[in-house]
Amino acid sequence: MKNRILVTGGTGYIGSHTVVELINAQYEVVIIDDLSNSYASVIDNILKITGKKPAFEQFNLCDKKLLDQFFKKYTDISAIIHFAASKSVNESVEKPLKYYRNNLMSCINLLDAMREYSVPYMVFSSSCTVYGQPEKLPVTEYAPLQTPSSPYGNTKQICEKIIQDVTISNEDISAISLRYFNPIGAHTSSLIGELSTGTPDNLVPYITQTGIGIREFLRVFGNDYDTPDGTCIRDFIHVIDIADVHIKAVERLLGNKNKAQYEFFNVGTGRGYSVMEVIKTFEKVSGKKLNYKILGRRPGDIEKIWADTSLANKELEWVATRDLDEMLLTAWNWEKHYRPVNI
Ligand code: WQD
Repeated sequence: MKNRILVTGGTGYIGSHTVVELINAQYEVVIIDDLSNSYASVIDNILKITGKKPAFEQFNLCDKKLLDQFFKKYTDISAIIHFAASKSVNESVEKPLKYYRNNLMSCINLLDAMREYSVPYMVFSSSCTVYGQPEKLPVTEYAPLQTPSSPYGNTKQICEKIIQDVTISNEDISAISLRYFNPIGAHTSSLIGELSTGTPDNLVPYITQTGIGIREFLRVFGNDYDTPDGTCIRDFIHVIDIADVHIKAVERLLGNKNKAQYEFFNVGTGRGYSVMEVIKTFEKVSGKKLNYKILGRRPGDIEKIWADTSLANKELEWVATRDLDEMLLTAWNWEKHYRPVNI
């Protein structure tokens, strides 16, 4: 059996898909999650998919006492994949202190614990939002970081810098930040997927909820951008492709293959799709006409972004393989078959 990996936020959207891939790769997994934006039933579904039930501890990482107790109980953690964070762009604008307190303190407490309990490696869940609106596309890892358009994005940028500084001051700690573009889709089993509590901020869950009748119509936030069809462009990537790159990043660190104590990689497909292209593709794969209205721009949205993925392709020996059809079909299947309708 390989090493034990701690996955914080492991009952969340990307976290749960990553736990499945870790178990499939024969890793022992333990999850820390406070269930503030996910459900314990995700653990049962991970068991159904993999045949193995990961260990699970329910608490918030801001509680240093509970985190210390955790590391006294689990003394065989060889790497941490850190997903746990508040992640709504809109909510972060309304409640910035919640985001700075939760996202920064969680990360700082974890890094403290890594030093105290000799855990050498961290893979950090970052986001393309650190780039703001890039000047040049596709955006590379060395594009200048702009002030993100939300406190959420700012916490990602600040956490990357905190982690980098800790690796500089601790030669026995190494880390990799993965800058996701737009994660969408669900597991092929439809047993796990994106469980957004309340009204979804993001495009694809709103589309599937409109398709199934929970929402009356999709609001398209602006069609007057400088893009071929006037709607925004994003680099959508299947959540399982994202899960897979975490295994590659953990193995790079466990195998001491990293070329620096702190590395960071774009995690995208390298292909941008507009909001209208996503709508048309959803209609194609679902066979349903989508009800939508063109409204004004959403404050804080950038116009267009897609990734230069060559660094991750080469260094992590990883390429995203799933196309937009599969992303949207798995999202639609998840909506139809397994999302508890009362959420
Ligand atoms: C995509 C496009 C909207 C909803 C954010 C975070 C990013 C990551 C993914 C966490 C935009 C349009 C959306 C709707 C719409 N999150 N849209 N109608 O804002 O690119 O990225 O979520 O890591 O870090 O920044 O994703 O899905 O909200 O929006 O027209 O009901 O879809 O205007 O152009 P975004 P999104």
